[in-house]
Amino acid sequence: MQVRVEAREVNQIAADVLAIPMAASDSRERLPSRLASADRWLGGRLEAVVRRGDFRGKAGEILWLFPEEGAGGPKRALLIGVGDEAKLTADALRDAAGRALGAARTKDAVEVTLLLLTSRRLRTPEAARAAAEGAVLASYRSDTWRTQREGPDADPETFSIAVDSRELRKARGAAATGAIVAEGQNLARHLSNEPPNDLPPAALARASQRLAKEVGLKCRVLDVREMQRRKMGALLAVGQGSKHPPRLVILEYQPPKGRRKLPTVCIVGKGITFDSGGISIKPSPNMQDMKHDMSGAGAVYGLMHVVAKLKLPLHVVGVLAAAENLPDGNAYRPGDILRSMAGKTIEIQNTDAEGRLVLADALHLANTDYKPAAIVDLATLTGACVVALGGWASGLFANHEGLARALRDASEASGERVWSLPVWDEHREHMRSQIADLKNVGGRDAGSSTAAAFLSHFVGETPWAHLDIAGTAWTAKPGPCQPYGATGVGVRLLAELLANWPKSGQI
Ligand code: BES
Ligand code: MN
Ligand code: ZN
Repeated sequence: MQVRVEAREVNQIAADVLAIPMAASDSRERLPSRLASADRWLGGRLEAVVRRGDFRGKAGEILWLFPEEGAGGPKRALLIGVGDEAKLTADALRDAAGRALGAARTKDAVEVTLLLLTSRRLRTPEAARAAAEGAVLASYRSDTWRTQREGPDADPETFSIAVDSRELRKARGAAATGAIVAEGQNLARHLSNEPPNDLPPAALARASQRLAKEVGLKCRVLDVREMQRRKMGALLAVGQGSKHPPRLVILEYQPPKGRRKLPTVCIVGKGITFDSGGISIKPSPNMQDMKHDMSGAGAVYGLMHVVAKLKLPLHVVGVLAAAENLPDGNAYRPGDILRSMAGKTIEIQNTDAEGRLVLADALHLANTDYKPAAIVDLATLTGACVVALGGWASGLFANHEGLARALRDASEASGERVWSLPVWDEHREHMRSQIADLKNVGGRDAGSSTAAAFLSHFVGETPWAHLDIAGTAWTAKPGPCQPYGATGVGVRLLAELLANWPKSGQI
């Protein structure tokens, strides 16, 4: 599906579906002037349904309308409510575009056009970007393993966004960015949704190599021997109970030459391709969801696609820490003491607290090999974070207020909500062991903060932020832009962070 931005009169549009997002205020008394030509094309029926209260513009409300025979222009119109105009957000428009695409599918539409809705707060570029994101996100499907699909199949060939001709140039740039970011998010979703028998660590590494070739990234894959040489005792231990050995993947983006020295940012992802808990095995209910335990790594993969496509002026290094956590005769055990790459020893009290172990080595490698200006990691790290925030926000932990603030700003702009939770010195102290330098569990209290505190021991003084995406990486509640399963959370957020990388001094 192609996303386009055009400036055309309604009766010049040759679409199967013309989607018209409408705010609640649009549908109270008189039609706003931007809808005048659409109303004329519809023979006054737009005005009529609004006047009679048949369409009120409530978020999610839809109504099909049809032009007179021979009126020209689109075959049909779909009114889509977006709620209060005063509160018109990028989220609302993203959803409206997603609904437009979903509805168009049911009509086997080949061409869809969305009449862009803007407001004083949501200007054309931001609105066009949100619409492009919504359309591309809605085009993702998670049923690729079904041999017989239900319902209509094909996406339209083109999704056009109609804007005022004076805004065409800016809107085109913004929509192109939105489409790229959403494609990155879809790539992340795809990896996360893949079943664990089809995506062991080596397959995650191969997918990364393919991506690197496609978009022009450098890709390095460390296998077990190389990880042994680099003394990555924590990551190796987690992977040793599976016959699918672990991998550490480095995806590196260098900005186009000729610029001043640009900051290096490392993005690190937890890539547990399946988390059974290991010897401290998990209860069976919903254990299948633990195929998503590589969603942090999936987000890094999707993000690197975006970074390369947008040619961002930053040096970005993505690190994927991939392993499968299974119990067998070679598995690591409670009681083991591991020696991490950083040299710090770790007492294992529970083999299900494996994410922090693979991240310990990945964070240390990122920090010492690349000496970055900042590190951000993403991980489906703790059930405690799901208890605290549910699916409504990712947990944000940081050792640097400037970086945390930049992430909260990116969260506002991208619509991927984060909520700050503490990592205090007390949490850090709590992770010290009686018999080794650190222990891998901190108990029930403040479980996501103690997990974050454990990670903080492996980043030195480097500005670092950790996103606990345990509650947000997948969902059983589909929406207009979100099918059942993986969400690809983190891609939009971090694309926004990197695109607006704070001026030196703030980080
Ligand atoms: N991958 C899980 C965390 C998780 C749980 C993510 C539920 C998403 C949904 C992680 O490896 C884990 O098992 N964490 C343990 C840590 C505990 C043993 C200290 C947890 O949260 O229970
Ligand atoms: Mn676990
Ligand atoms: Zn896990």
